[in-house]
Amino acid sequence: MNGDINRLFEPSISYNDMIRTQFLEHIAQTSPAPLMIEVERAEGIYLYTPRGERYVDLVSGVSVSNVGHANGEVVEAVQRQAADYMHTMVYGETVMRPQVEYARLLAEYLPENLNSVYFVNSGAEAVEGAMKLAKRQTGRSEIVSMRGAYHGSTQGAMSIMGDEFFKSAFRPLLPDCRHIRYNSVEDLELITERTAAVVAECIQGEAGVRLPNEGYLQALRTRCDEVGALLILDEIQTAFGRCGAMFAMELSGVVPDILCLAKALGGGMPLGAFVSSREIMQSLTHNPVLGHITTFGGHPVCCAAGKAAMGYIIKNDLVANSRTRGEQFRALLKNYEVRGEGLLMAVELGSAEKMYRAVAQLKERGYMSDWFLFCDTAFRISPPLTITAEQVERCCGDIIDIL
Ligand SMILES: Cc1ncc(COP(=O)(O)O)c(C=O)c1O
Repeated sequence: MNGDINRLFEPSISYNDMIRTQFLEHIAQTSPAPLMIEVERAEGIYLYTPRGERYVDLVSGVSVSNVGHANGEVVEAVQRQAADYMHTMVYGETVMRPQVEYARLLAEYLPENLNSVYFVNSGAEAVEGAMKLAKRQTGRSEIVSMRGAYHGSTQGAMSIMGDEFFKSAFRPLLPDCRHIRYNSVEDLELITERTAAVVAECIQGEAGVRLPNEGYLQALRTRCDEVGALLILDEIQTAFGRCGAMFAMELSGVVPDILCLAKALGGGMPLGAFVSSREIMQSLTHNPVLGHITTFGGHPVCCAAGKAAMGYIIKNDLVANSRTRGEQFRALLKNYEVRGEGLLMAVELGSAEKMYRAVAQLKERGYMSDWFLFCDTAFRISPPLTITAEQVERCCGDIIDIL
């Protein structure tokens, strides 16, 4: 190629169309029919396109944008940290103030044993790190996970995914992974002295927002203790107020040995973490040394953004707002089957056809919704936690109209 690279992106009357064509040509696709909404700007609960359309965001980038889009405090933290320094040295060797301050803040809000944070780049990496840590700590290899569970798209995380359709084409995956039924107390017997760890979501997100039965997570915790298996809770989608508590585990009172975080952890920047006790985490320092390493994990700009976002949630009590706005949604939509806690909800329509039609009609009305990876009969309501009572009312009016 020669000449001026800007030539490829020159604004013109058909620039919007050209970008869409180039998106299809040069950006790798993951489905035959991409959503194709181009976001030019986003603010609060709204997404704006270059064509002047406005969408209410009912997805939040899949439970990422808890503090609303273009949150002033997060933007400022990003700008300040980017100007101070960005990348310096790989994780865990140099002292980076944004990492330390954020880890301290997290430890303050987590149960006492969850006081050591290993920052990574994404949810799947947090799960990979947690699985490795459990194997190293227990000297065992079996990982037990739940049917209907989603833990990420890398090969380790995919090995414990609870859905065969999405993973069979990628076998062989990790050996020694076993699945049990979520909410089946009977299946807890399959967790044994061979089990290094059980990985579970407090509320199963991609299964279509499936809540735990009363006492189930407590029984799981007890069984893990009986056989010496570690309990890993994946709160990648459920934390930071999303379910009406800072961490969804507070709803059951169950405390894991290892906690996985990502999504809203970075306040809109890519960040993941697995969190455990200092004692367990120490096992990554020897036999072998450098038991888990990452170049970009815990990037200072991402940590600064995440800390600002968590600070914003605390200061503005978005946890309480998530709870009351969630209740408002469920009260207004009382004639439909709505599953969820706080602002993580699934509206069950009973068939994929009805769900696709509803999502398309919502799009026409200016709402961006989506379905769930393992549940194509329900659509998602998970707006930023900054949503107001008035906005919820308008949204429910439109949803009822459509349904
Ligand atoms: C519960 C849960 N775990 C893990 C992941 C994977 O996170 P990431 O896409 O950042 O790898 C997701 C993503 O949707 C998730 O919902």
